[in-house]
Amino acid sequence: RPRVLSGIQPTADSFHLGNYMGALRQWVDLQRDHQPFFFIADQHAITTDWDPKLLRERTLRSAAQLLAAGVDPEKSAIFVQSHVPAHAQLGWVLNGLTGFGEARRMTQFKDKSAKGGEGAASVGLFAYPILMAADILLYRPHYVPVGEDQRQHLELTRDLAQRFNGRFKKTFRLPEPYILKATAKIYDLQEPTKKMSKSGSGPNGIIEMLEEPARSAKKIRSAVTDSGTEIRFDQEEKPGVSNLLTIYSALTGESIQALEEQYAGKMYGDLKKDLAEVVVGFVTPFRDRTLELLDNQDHLMQVLAQGAETANAVAESTLRDVYQRIGFVAPV
Ligand code: TYM
Repeated sequence: RPRVLSGIQPTADSFHLGNYMGALRQWVDLQRDHQPFFFIADQHAITTDWDPKLLRERTLRSAAQLLAAGVDPEKSAIFVQSHVPAHAQLGWVLNGLTGFGEARRMTQFKDKSAKGGEGAASVGLFAYPILMAADILLYRPHYVPVGEDQRQHLELTRDLAQRFNGRFKKTFRLPEPYILKATAKIYDLQEPTKKMSKSGSGPNGIIEMLEEPARSAKKIRSAVTDSGTEIRFDQEEKPGVSNLLTIYSALTGESIQALEEQYAGKMYGDLKKDLAEVVVGFVTPFRDRTLELLDNQDHLMQVLAQGAETANAVAESTLRDVYQRIGFVAPV
């Protein structure tokens, strides 16, 4: 079975709808006929300011949310990045193969360091995509299910894999990004030309999967829509309505076209009212299930321990090959 790998950062109290639609949903779907590795990227979470207590809490909350979303520990290795030392170890090797200019071109570094200026950003933030390449390459996955914002990192990963294979010996598989066009980028509800993200317009722009469902409903009902009245999918002219249609379609399985027909002649308010109900119907059981899972931390820790064991076996074996091929002397 082809392998898949992906990760998510524990940098918020809750995943948001963009995370779910852009990535998690695909994780759950791919489990069926792939060999999956999914992890919580706690090492990536310390590349910008963090609070140790929050990080610990959010790591467990992330694990609970993955299970609540349907990631199944019977089918997938679910683990915490720092439980598998080979990520950082291979990351260090890849640092030596990455050009400074090449890393500097990564747009997420530019975006994230824009505020305080490059000098205030951490070296960790700069090296972030290189650690991500290590995360991926260790498992030699065929596919990496992510949202559009990770595409450039995947390209760097492929470049590094190719470079390593060419310089030393064929060691890594060149992974394919698995990015579903329809949901590759979910937009901010208040600023629908920007991606939904916790650093976006503010709390009203994002649906947090663990917030009170009534709050989610309110956010959908007050989402920014566009001038005009017609309900149709048009990314350029109607980014707000298009985003709502994308979410609606993804959560119900109805096609965009069917929705356009269903809402012909109706008002934006009708669409938002109905979508609010759909969203509530989706987040309510997710939230209940997550809270239930968080009540049994022993179970969560067990799942993570089992995942780390599976992951370590694969990752250590790749790292051994790498160390040998680059000329590190093996300890006796
Ligand atoms: P992170 O934690 O920011 O996001 C997790 C996943 O959610 C996707 N995503 C979105 N998709 C659609 N629309 C949106 N508005 C949206 N916002 C977020 C992201 O694309 C991602 O797939 N660097 C990664 C974590 C990571 C990783 C890896 C991923 C670390 N190592 C190795 C894959 C493979 C990140 O920060 O994702």
